[in-house]
Amino acid sequence: MGKIILTGDRPTGRLHIGHYVGSLRRRVELQNSGKFDKIFIMIADAQALTDNADNPEKVRQNIIEVALDYMSAGLDPEKSTLFIQSQVSELTELTFFYENLVTVQRLQRNPTVKQEIQLRGFSENTDGSDNKAGTPVGFFCYPISQAADITAFKATTVPVGEDQEPMIEQTREIVRKFNSTYGETLVEPEIMLPDNAACLRLPGTDGKAKMSKSLGNCIYLSDDAETVWAKVKGMYTDPGHLQVSDPGRVEGNTVFTYLDAFCKPEHFDKFASCFIGKKVSFEFHSLDEVKAQYRAGGLGDMMIKNFLNAVLNDTLEPIRTRRHELEKNIPYVYEVLRKGSEEARKVAAQTLSDVKKAMKINYFDPGVLDELIAEQTAKFNQ
Ligand code: TRP
Repeated sequence: MGKIILTGDRPTGRLHIGHYVGSLRRRVELQNSGKFDKIFIMIADAQALTDNADNPEKVRQNIIEVALDYMSAGLDPEKSTLFIQSQVSELTELTFFYENLVTVQRLQRNPTVKQEIQLRGFSENTDGSDNKAGTPVGFFCYPISQAADITAFKATTVPVGEDQEPMIEQTREIVRKFNSTYGETLVEPEIMLPDNAACLRLPGTDGKAKMSKSLGNCIYLSDDAETVWAKVKGMYTDPGHLQVSDPGRVEGNTVFTYLDAFCKPEHFDKFASCFIGKKVSFEFHSLDEVKAQYRAGGLGDMMIKNFLNAVLNDTLEPIRTRRHELEKNIPYVYEVLRKGSEEARKVAAQTLSDVKKAMKINYFDPGVLDELIAEQTAKFNQ
């Protein structure tokens, strides 16, 4: 059996550089490695609706944004199947069957869902006085629907960020439960996490634990160079680093976390001019040297921000250029999604058919009906 990737994102906003280093960059590498037989990249609009039921327009608008981000970051429709979750209705059928294999208590233990419920204020005022209060059932159950997404494509590998680990674990449990109950049918997936610690969970520009739209601390893949520079200038560094001559802290300093995530060896040569100042100049050959100088003192925040800006733009500029090209060809982007969804549907339909067969609810499959009739006729006409 082949190696298959399934992964995706909720279309609730444009993708930011946290998405990029956390998963998107890896997907593009994996796609181009040629080591995978199939790659499915899903825009999870149905999952986005589990906590945006009252705002379908937001989800609709962001489908194209995410598709543009994907393709401009290097996901190639010739090599990867890009599709929209809601257009593959087989996924909801699978979800319905998997719901019988998971307990409410198990779902309640999912740390990511727990955290998200808190973040969204769903747990407050559960007395029904406010119709916004309480957790939507669909939201609570989304880990099960995510198991359907993954297993429908018989995915072996799921490249995602750290926050998705509980979903993959839940999926693996469902697969084992399904296979032991109904016979070997589904494939147990492996999670693939970023290998660089800085990429596991990129902090926001304000230094807060996570880059997120609601916190307003994101750098978007589609931000123009000016916007990126304004955001980098305003970034959180080391609050104790008041004078350039003061020793600075690298740990917890967001500029260095971003450099850990984005800096490549060739950047020191390419952007050497960033370290040439009016008063002091440096010649660095590695990030370790930059860090050592920052710790020792004498290296100013503006200088490292300048360097970070150059490093970020080195990655973002080609993405921006491709995006501008694609934005001129919106019909093509929708055609990619339409074709991708059609193809995804065929694959999911095969899995659903396997699942129904294993669960013995394939009554009208060829041959099965004849058998059923024979069996029941014999029973009632003994
Ligand atoms: N939960 C993911 C997110 O929040 C999106 C997603 C839905 C997904 N189904 C998936 C990711 C299946 C990987 C595999 O972005």
